[in-house]
Amino acid sequence: MFRITIGLLAVVALLFGAGHRGPVVDAQTAAAALTGTVTSKAEGAMEGVAVIAKRDGSPVLTSVMTDARGQYSFPRSHLKPGKYTIAIRAAGYVLPGSGTIPVDVSAEAAGRLDLALLDATTDQMANQLTTVDWLMSMPGTTAQKDLLVRKVVNCGFCHDMERTLRTRYTADQFLPVISRMATYAADNSAACGPGSALICDAKTSGRYQQQSVPRPPEGLSYGGADARLLAEYLASVNLSGGRKTWNFPLKAMPRPKGRATRAIVTVFPIPRQPNVIHDLAVDQNGHVWYGDSGWGYLGKLEPKTATFKEYEAPQRWPEPQAGLKRVLGVQDVEVDAVGRVWAVLALGGKTLAYFDPAREAWKEFEMPGGVWAFLPSFHKGQADTVWTTGRPPDGGNAAPLTAYRLNAKTGQVEASFPIMVDASGRDFSGPMRLDVYGMSSARPFCYQIARDAQDNFLCNDFYGSNIIRVNAKTGKTTIFPTPTPHAAPRRGRGDGEGRYWFGEFWGDKAAMLDLATGTIREFPFSTKYMSAYAAAPDARGEGWASSTGSDRVMRINPQTGETTEYLMPVYYDARKVVVDPSTANTTVWLPNKNLAQLIRIEPLD
Ligand code: HEC
Repeated sequence: MFRITIGLLAVVALLFGAGHRGPVVDAQTAAAALTGTVTSKAEGAMEGVAVIAKRDGSPVLTSVMTDARGQYSFPRSHLKPGKYTIAIRAAGYVLPGSGTIPVDVSAEAAGRLDLALLDATTDQMANQLTTVDWLMSMPGTTAQKDLLVRKVVNCGFCHDMERTLRTRYTADQFLPVISRMATYAADNSAACGPGSALICDAKTSGRYQQQSVPRPPEGLSYGGADARLLAEYLASVNLSGGRKTWNFPLKAMPRPKGRATRAIVTVFPIPRQPNVIHDLAVDQNGHVWYGDSGWGYLGKLEPKTATFKEYEAPQRWPEPQAGLKRVLGVQDVEVDAVGRVWAVLALGGKTLAYFDPAREAWKEFEMPGGVWAFLPSFHKGQADTVWTTGRPPDGGNAAPLTAYRLNAKTGQVEASFPIMVDASGRDFSGPMRLDVYGMSSARPFCYQIARDAQDNFLCNDFYGSNIIRVNAKTGKTTIFPTPTPHAAPRRGRGDGEGRYWFGEFWGDKAAMLDLATGTIREFPFSTKYMSAYAAAPDARGEGWASSTGSDRVMRINPQTGETTEYLMPVYYDARKVVVDPSTANTTVWLPNKNLAQLIRIEPLD
């Protein structure tokens, strides 16, 4: 019934017999370590199946995808000889038996392993769906689905949707759960248990219960929305009321095709558990630096050898606030032009710091009153200044949001510019969108800051849906509204040549602002609720954007308008997308917050 052939073919035979066309594929096949074809009864040869290899004794996952002929090929460069287990990702399908297949990869010849997939049961498929797949499958009105997704912090931030959809709670039973979810600090918590690789026990689990907000009265609100409506909706689509299975068919987004299948993805699990990896940056030597925003250390991955090293960060506690138990950690990681690794210590706190890799030492800067610790990106040559924001303490709540430029040597404020409404009289009074933190669009709010090559300050005004620029010399504020209203620009990065890329979280689009002309071009994701989080340009001028909930990463060619969505081999939630500055070929990194992994994407074209 299942045809699994594990044979050995001479490299020579593959080279001459396989009939591949095109330089990239030829090069890859010539140096293949393991190849094969993936088929199923229903489809025959299957395109866009992720084939995932794990070497015995190593936690690293290496993944390639099948092409239009159902063929996959692992290059030797990525699969050392040894014993491996093979798994797949293709919604609706499983490997026979236990779900993995052992295979030997020899040093001499390319191995061959053909995979005949079986249909997944509904129960197995529920385990394969992404959050966006669930949202597509679930019945419900747009208003109901918006309740789940269009939040600053939504139910997909800390764990997968399956955890919610497998419950048997009635609406009344859901209310205390939702209320408890609202107490977790979004950037400092990760969920253990199903859907998470974090190893947690009763002792450590207390550590992620970091209350940043007082627990809301049960049933009152979640993210500014009526929690009862949310509870009622969830109880209509979960397994409550004695349902044996879901009362709707499970559907998944189409599998990747064509260019989207041509990438090698490597997943590096972080040795220390548990952790919350919010941010990441890659230095000129290709070292991957990541910040643990739950447990307060900086880590370094050397991808060539898959070795990790960790550095304890100085512990900084923010000023005591009502209901605040513990918020610390390393966030906003950025590398400057001289290789220092900057970070914010304790989000919501007051400390900016950099780690000097040469001396393996930290330097900290306490922010003066009214100034928050936030970090911009660094472009070529930039190491002397940093920007941050805040509100002058004497102005009370009416004080204008202010851009502060700091001297990177002393931490002293060099210049401060109030962020003013522009001459056209545009104000920031869109509909109020309260979130768990009680923020609204009535005034500008920098969700994230960045800068351009001229050291002008840039800010993603999430609620007002603008990009704001403050001229570093004159202090003049310019507002660039997103073409899509309420698109919620979340995180971004410039190319250092006048283009600024960002993710539109509620717009489900990646966007590129041309700072010279002031025009914003938007590139929609293929499916609603894919929630573009962060975007960054690569050295070729293409954009890369992460998605919350779809496990896809989008690549955008602004010249042709072509977009490509690469499906990751694992569930991911990433708050940043980072292009490696050290490689000749484009290499992109994601910090996988909930599964405690670093993901590397190497497109083959
Ligand atoms: C900031 C992180 C975070 C967010 C956001 C979050 N959760 Fe959770 N969730 C957790 C953690 C941590 C756990 C495990 C500890 C616990 O159960 O309290 C968990 C566990 C769960 C569980 C299993 C435990 C149980 O009581 O059944 C369900 C169901 C759940 N979450 C539903 C939701 C829903 C629905 C939302 C959106 C309203 C949501 N979560 C948003 C962190 C989060």
